[in-house]
Amino acid sequence: MNALPASTDDSALWDAWLSAYRLPVLTVADEVGTFRALAEALGTTEQLAAGLGVDARALGIHLSLIAAMGFAERREGRWAATAETRRWLHPEAEGYFGPLLAGYRQTNALHDQLLATLRTGDKAEGHSSSVEEWERGAMPAELAERVTALMNAHSRAAAKAVAQQGLFTEVTSLMDVGGGSGIFCIELARAWPGLRATVMEIDVVGQQAARYIAAAGVADRVGTAAVNMFTEEWPQGHDALFFSNVFHDWSEKTNRLLAGKAHAALAPGGRILLHEMLLDDDACGPMTTAAFSVLMLLGTRGRQYTFAELRYCLEGAGFVDVQAQRTGGGYYSLVSGRKG
Ligand SMILES: C[S@@+](CC[C@H](N)C(=O)[O-])C[C@H]1O[C@@H](n2cnc3c(N)ncnc32)[C@H](O)[C@@H]1O
Repeated sequence: MNALPASTDDSALWDAWLSAYRLPVLTVADEVGTFRALAEALGTTEQLAAGLGVDARALGIHLSLIAAMGFAERREGRWAATAETRRWLHPEAEGYFGPLLAGYRQTNALHDQLLATLRTGDKAEGHSSSVEEWERGAMPAELAERVTALMNAHSRAAAKAVAQQGLFTEVTSLMDVGGGSGIFCIELARAWPGLRATVMEIDVVGQQAARYIAAAGVADRVGTAAVNMFTEEWPQGHDALFFSNVFHDWSEKTNRLLAGKAHAALAPGGRILLHEMLLDDDACGPMTTAAFSVLMLLGTRGRQYTFAELRYCLEGAGFVDVQAQRTGGGYYSLVSGRKG
């Protein structure tokens, strides 16, 4: 065997995986007229969406990736075409690429899915998603096994990086809300011998997590709690509540509800920790985070958020000292707040 151990940085894989969304976002923008609109008048997302007859939230998500690719820029909240856009993507430009882009409309299934989400603002039919099962709090065991294995693979490097963060010196009991395979609790238990952790999940996913926890040999300090985070009471008595890739699945309204439930479940001084890939403050990148946001548009009710958006949500629920730091695990950051 010549395999190497996992590290904290898997960004090459994320870049390759999420690059799949770049071209179809361009072919859709070409079809609906986004590039001409950007070139002809400065506008906010809402103004552009009204002019194009598309959903504003979805357009904002598309524009973040278009900007990250260098084909739009935003100043003081208003979008504009870049010189590259006016040179190659404006339908009246000498160098218009439209005929080439049109050739990729039929060959890429993501084109139709992205076009539909742009028009309706809702998730795409036909794109793999578990969001309806998550809303119900139940899913078939076979689906839970498949989705949990996927999450476990995509969170391994990130979990190793999270476990290196010094703030866990102050944490003795942590609950991972929507903790998937339990990989964050497993890595934290390995790194911090004094820490106990609970994976809070819908029942069928918690059963999968219990298998990963037992295989990692940390079942003496890591357990599971079967709780539907929307409809049931949350266990109390933990000094940190950790959420990884959970807020990005949901709308700002649902996230306010989750932050409120977290605040109610913590004792004064307790911490909330949001592990997310943050969009830049102007929402124009990073490229892979903007592409992840497009994936969330297709399959969930959410998107990637900026630090300011998450801070606003946490402060609205009563958290103080809200801060963010990159973890060193790919593109991820940890946003932390304290119950005053
Ligand atoms: C995107 S996954 C993130 C998994 C893990 N935190 C990670 O980063 O690898 C979202 C998780 O939230 C869980 N979840 C969704 N709806 C839930 C609900 N109603 N109650 C509890 N957990 C839920 C899902 O089962 C899933 O494991």
